[in-house]
Formats: sequence, C-alpha cells, structure tokens
Amino acid sequence: MNTNKGAIGVFDSGYGGLTVLKEIVHQLPEYTYMYLGDNARSPYGTRSFETVYHYTLQCVNWFFNQGCHLVILACNTASAKALRNIQQKDLPLIDESKRVLGVIRPTSEIIGNYSETKHIGVLATNGTVQSGSYVIEIEKFYPEVKVFQQACPMWVPLIENNEHKNKGADFFVKEYTNALMKQSEMIDTVLLACTHYPLLLKKIKEYLPADTKIISQGEIVASSLVDYLQRHPEIAAKCLKENKVSFYTTDSTEDFDKHAAIFYGQTVQSMHVDL
Ligand code: DGL
Repeated sequence: MNTNKGAIGVFDSGYGGLTVLKEIVHQLPEYTYMYLGDNARSPYGTRSFETVYHYTLQCVNWFFNQGCHLVILACNTASAKALRNIQQKDLPLIDESKRVLGVIRPTSEIIGNYSETKHIGVLATNGTVQSGSYVIEIEKFYPEVKVFQQACPMWVPLIENNEHKNKGADFFVKEYTNALMKQSEMIDTVLLACTHYPLLLKKIKEYLPADTKIISQGEIVASSLVDYLQRHPEIAAKCLKENKVSFYTTDSTEDFDKHAAIFYGQTVQSMHVDL
C-alpha cells in the first residue's frame, strides 16, 4: 500500500467539472488538486454505459498513478454510469484504501430540502437521465418527492463550443425547459444535474417560471467534501496540503486553457496527458 500523500483528483469528461473544482478550492483552499478533463473523448453524455465506464476507469487509474488517494468524479454522467462498478469491482482489486466519490449522492441527499411542492425537475445529459440514478437516489432520501427528468443533449455541445451566451442557444434552452415543465406544473425546484449547465444559468432562468429554485451542484459537492474529510481523518491525512491546483487534459492544452477560464473563472495553464 502506498502511504505517500497525494493530491485530490477531480475528474470530468471535459470542462464542466471545473465549476465544481472552483467551489471545492473555495471551501478547501489548503489542499493540493489535480484536475483532469478527458476532452479528447468528451462528451460522455451520449456514450454507452460500457464506454463511459471504460473511459472513467482509465482516468481514475491515471490519478492513482499520480499518487492520488481520493478522486472526485465531478461529472454526473461518469458518476451515473461508472462509479458503482469502480467502487464495488475495481477498487478492491486496485487498492482498497483508495476512494472514488461522485456527485449524485451528495446532491440527492440535500435536494429534497429545497422543494415545497415535492416536485423536483432534473435537467441532465442523456446518459444520466437513462441511468435513472437521480430518481433512485432521491427516492432513498425523500420517498415523498416526485422526480421529473429531462435530457438536454444539445446543451453540452453549445457550452463546449462557447455558444451558450449567443442567441442561438435560446432555442434549445426553451425547448428543454418547456419539456420539463410540461411534465408537471408543480415543479418548484430544478436541479442542474450536469456540471456544464451552470454556464447556461442566465438563460435557463429566463425560460423557467420566475419563482423556480435552480440548484447548481458546485457548492453542494464542495460542502459534502468538507464533511467527508472531517468524518474520514484517515483519508484527509493522505491528502497533500500545498494550496495548489494543476490542470491536465487529454486533448490540446491550448484549447483547454482558452475554454477552462470560462468555467473556472480564472486563467489556467494545463498539461497534456496521453492515456
Ligand atoms: N459534465 C458532465 C456531467 O456532469 C457531462 C458532459 C458530457 O456529456 O460529457 O454529466
């Protein structure tokens, strides 16, 4: 067993996880972080279960090879399609002391508290919607809550192509938010269950009823990590504290640096990784 300290790994298929990393670093600035975006193979949202699992496991192994003991899948699609297998099948074989956490459980644990009508809308990628993960997880914590899901397959491509602020994006924002609200007029809380979607927040607000609570995951996931590290001092003790973040991408570093600033809120300098 490797007892050296390592960075906390934060993973996404592309840039979306940076919206989560930003909040994590805000709440836990003292730690060392490595962010990996699998941009060369993104988006994951339209890919099969097997493919997302295979890609995610490869990336998790990369983090472990860099010495990380704790990896956060800051991607709903990877959390929905790969996390359970990795936790139950792979970790016992790789190293039982390693930890991989996702974003669906911490979000599901808290989301029911936001809704008065107990009708919650979930906007997510095709992959996350088809997995039914939010319906299953929210039911565990809030059996009284009804969950309505809407897949938004065009949103990640719009965001990744930096088209999310332009007029053309309105068509698909209106299309998917209307489709969600058609499922129940009682929806009073809408979860942005894809780490890319906070970038579309302004437009999503315009097309949802004015008093709808729109919930992004960054703060929720970050607070849950704070709590996790307090409850697991043995894992916290293995995490480096150098107040430092490094960025890695499986695609062009130039493209990554250009786009990442939009998601992370400050300029970054990435390094290329071949998996
Ligand atoms: N950001 C990812 C998520 O939270 C999805 C992006 C993708 O489709 O690759 O689901």
